[in-house]
Amino acid sequence: MTITAGRSAMPQHVAIIMDGNGRWANARGLPRSAGHRKGVEALRTAVRAAGEMGIEYLTIFSFSSENWSRPPAEVSFLLDLMRHFVRQDVAELHRENVRIRIIGERQGLAPDIVALIEETELRTQANTGLTLVVAFNYGSRHEIATAARELALAVKSGRVAPDSITPELFGSFLSTEGIPDPDLLIRTSGEQRLSNYLLWQCAYTEFVFVDEFWPDFSRETMQRAITEYLARERRFGGLTAQSA
Ligand code: FPP
Repeated sequence: MTITAGRSAMPQHVAIIMDGNGRWANARGLPRSAGHRKGVEALRTAVRAAGEMGIEYLTIFSFSSENWSRPPAEVSFLLDLMRHFVRQDVAELHRENVRIRIIGERQGLAPDIVALIEETELRTQANTGLTLVVAFNYGSRHEIATAARELALAVKSGRVAPDSITPELFGSFLSTEGIPDPDLLIRTSGEQRLSNYLLWQCAYTEFVFVDEFWPDFSRETMQRAITEYLARERRFGGLTAQSA
């Protein structure tokens, strides 16, 4: 892994926590589902903007492993929205040369959703434009524990020597294998926490928190977050050029 300290260049990988759909709807006296529906439109805007800005990887938190604890009607609405998004938008994203990867636990998901996920990845795997990483039924601690279990099995069977375990090797057991760490993480709705998202991958990520609720996310919001990121100095634990 090569990491270079200094003033930031355009981010290669942007991760987003799309938060505030419910509050956006409440503020308008609408059901939460209306916020999620509008959230899908904001997602389309974000994907298009990322592609046009030359961002190579965009990771979005679409459904966390903790979201199952919401009322059943909301969970089933979100799952239907995912089905709809995949059926409706993947053909267009494919035409736009977008590669789609879906990370998160597949075990226990409805078989039709697993089939949609597999089809989507297969269909778009040779695309060379933006890589859209969709975190679905994703939780970072679970991902890390699963990687540890697989690594332990690899050691037990003699395929991996304990001395060869490095952060890079461990990272290759995660679902984000082959994807560079996020440079910038944007969370909407003013909340300032990571909520079990990409805990390992965000070791040196710059965080930008914006006040807009997710349904109001626009190209300008993305541009502002990137401008803020570009003004930051990334040190990766080292010193800046001036203080060295
Ligand atoms: C957070 O708002 C948003 C979610 C839990 C779901 C995110 C999903 C979308 C934006 C659309 C779905 C996209 C796909 C691909 C399925 P919240 O409900 O936590 O809002 P609140 O914090 O205001 O209650």
